[in-house]
Amino acid sequence: MSKIVVAFDLYGTLLSTGSIAKELASHFGQEKAESIATVWRRYQLEYTWRLSCMKQYEDFSEVTRKSLYHALGEHGVSLNETETSGLMRSYDSLSTFPDVNPALERLKDNSSIECVVFSNGTSKMVSASVNGSEELSSSVFKDIITVDDVRTFKPAPEVYKHLAEKVGKTGQMSAMWLVSGNPFDIVGARAMGMQAAWVDRAGNGWQDKLGSEPTVVVKSLEEVADAVEKHARDSR
Ligand code: LAC
Repeated sequence: MSKIVVAFDLYGTLLSTGSIAKELASHFGQEKAESIATVWRRYQLEYTWRLSCMKQYEDFSEVTRKSLYHALGEHGVSLNETETSGLMRSYDSLSTFPDVNPALERLKDNSSIECVVFSNGTSKMVSASVNGSEELSSSVFKDIITVDDVRTFKPAPEVYKHLAEKVGKTGQMSAMWLVSGNPFDIVGARAMGMQAAWVDRAGNGWQDKLGSEPTVVVKSLEEVADAVEKHARDSR
């Protein structure tokens, strides 16, 4: 039987970008740092969507750097080159959400599932984040697939097609799962016919009103293996 591919989004799903607030706090204090980190992440994603709409492309590290400047500017603060580079380096040591490693260890033993990382980042940035996060049990991942090859960002249809090509599932979108904490990514994958597990760690429930809902909502990544297997059984 051919394997089910489970593609994990990286930032905000396996690795917490919230941990960057700690580094920012050393410059601006806790409260401001949290606000800057939130606005930075929001502009980081907004920039990717705007670039896609304009049919332009800048790689995710550029987008990340520019959106940081935007967030700092809006908060009336700035950082010099060295400090900015230090913050960018914190992308190489992000913390792993607590449910991630137990879930990955379980998936490693599952011979019917193949796991990959699937991210907006460049290969260089994503490899550095995956390998640099000492906590992340990354050996389960068979590949790191990034949007950089197609030069556009999630949720453009091309990037999910690219994923299918890379894992040998062209024309079999429904045999692939996306696992993501980012609703826009879930809706993008569903629009292309993929299965999708939305990770709702905060327990707020699905609120996105655009497109299809996730195939399943999980509170923790530890529920993913069961959800994928149950879905495979039910659709036989
Ligand atoms: C990623 C973005 C969505 O890792 O955070 O692709």
